[in-house]
Amino acid sequence: MSTKTTDIGLVGLAVMGQNLALNIADHGYNIAVYNRNPEKMRDFIAQNLANEPSHERVIGFEDLASFVLSIKRPRKIVLLVKAGSATDVTINALLPFLEQGDIIIDGGNALWTDTIRREKELSAKGIDFIGSGVSGGETGARFGPSLMPSGTRKAWASLEPIWRDIAAKVDAKTGEPLEGAAPGKPVVGGFSCTEYIGPDGAGHYVKMVHNGIEYIDMQLICEAYWLMKNLLGMPADEIGAVFKEWNKTELSSFLIEITGDILQQKDPAGDGFLVDKILDTAGQKGTGQWTAANALELGAPANAIAAAVYARALSSLKEERVDASKILQGPVIKHETDKKAIIEAIKNALYCSKICAYAQGFQLIDKAQVAYNWKLNFGELAQIWRGGCIIRARFLQKITDAYALNSRLKNLMLDPYFTNAMNEGQAGWRKVIALAVTNGIPAQGFSAALAYYDGYRSASLPANLLQGQRDYFGAHTYERTDKPRGEFFHVDWPEFPRKQLEI
Ligand code: 6PG
Repeated sequence: MSTKTTDIGLVGLAVMGQNLALNIADHGYNIAVYNRNPEKMRDFIAQNLANEPSHERVIGFEDLASFVLSIKRPRKIVLLVKAGSATDVTINALLPFLEQGDIIIDGGNALWTDTIRREKELSAKGIDFIGSGVSGGETGARFGPSLMPSGTRKAWASLEPIWRDIAAKVDAKTGEPLEGAAPGKPVVGGFSCTEYIGPDGAGHYVKMVHNGIEYIDMQLICEAYWLMKNLLGMPADEIGAVFKEWNKTELSSFLIEITGDILQQKDPAGDGFLVDKILDTAGQKGTGQWTAANALELGAPANAIAAAVYARALSSLKEERVDASKILQGPVIKHETDKKAIIEAIKNALYCSKICAYAQGFQLIDKAQVAYNWKLNFGELAQIWRGGCIIRARFLQKITDAYALNSRLKNLMLDPYFTNAMNEGQAGWRKVIALAVTNGIPAQGFSAALAYYDGYRSASLPANLLQGQRDYFGAHTYERTDKPRGEFFHVDWPEFPRKQLEI
């Protein structure tokens, strides 16, 4: 057993935990690691010490007491265990060894309400708790993730130097990501993709919305691919080339970039492209669904985010869909011939829908900050997502700029840059949706986003009739256009047709 003092501890050595530990060690910190199954810890240490001598800074422990005792006080212990009850089990196992002022940092995809509860329970025991969203997958964890921490300011001050060191770096002015470092050669300088988000569950909430946006971002890209394939009959590699071109434009993002690669990947087990052999049924771990459910709860119109969750649900009904395809009819797809124009229109649809998706995400966060009593900095959130995370994209800089111009911006679409982008792109966007509808090609993400756009820009909606219906059958009252807001009226409607209902 090592007698070395460590700067920080980490529990949970699945791939995210391993990579984050190595990233922390790369930045010169001694890190204590612990895993419930010590075999995994031993393997990890053996592999990494063999490969890279600098990783002597990663020190493995087989018992929690010596793991905890090795860490300098106030102790910082990062948890990267499965979200849910495993987190509570780990916290309870650690508690007997912790002292007042020690800090637990949960880096899992926890439900923010769990984080609020844990923070409360632990602060009553004198232990600080930071819920920190971690995004970027395995590579992000290893070379620079986007980190979304929340908790007390005091706890954050203690964690901040390490979090800033290990986070992804972007150019502070342009937001362009700075090249990832080779192991042992960390990037220095630039803006670190981490900032204090707020108290208790704010960090995990923001990470959840990040994932909700990730869901719709992915769905929109899939729809663009599907339309090129079905309307234009393009093969996967050619569509991949289009994505690679788009990656040089305002659409430039991690997800567009990997889509180009995925579409051009040959099938290692046979002829053709791999994407054509991957079963069309999407999995999900739940964070997108949490986002959509919370949007419903808070009354935030995040219909595109919800559409992405529903699209995954629908895709999972593979056998049912195959059966239904033999029964339910649709139009025969008519191939379009003006390929260049259609590809440009699909690009417009993708960009406009993406703007709506982010507008919905920020609108939801805005509702949440009122509901949960947080005060969040939207421009900073976009900057934290600029590097390291799954939704990192060039256009996030435009979001930071938009909130810098107007920190009280009601909706992203009202910022001049985005208003202009919607104005320029909407003809193509509408054309693509019309083609999808006419040809029976599902495009629920594009359509939901457009419905949101058209709904948001409508000074009048048919909710007048809806209020009439509510008042008719339930005396729920209505407001009048010719009276001040807040005055409610009820009218004696014709007698309710009970007799007919009894028939
Ligand atoms: C990230 C990702 C990550 C998420 C996966 C899988 O930011 O690194 O959001 O946290 O777990 O992308 O999510 P689904 O299984 O729900 O698609």
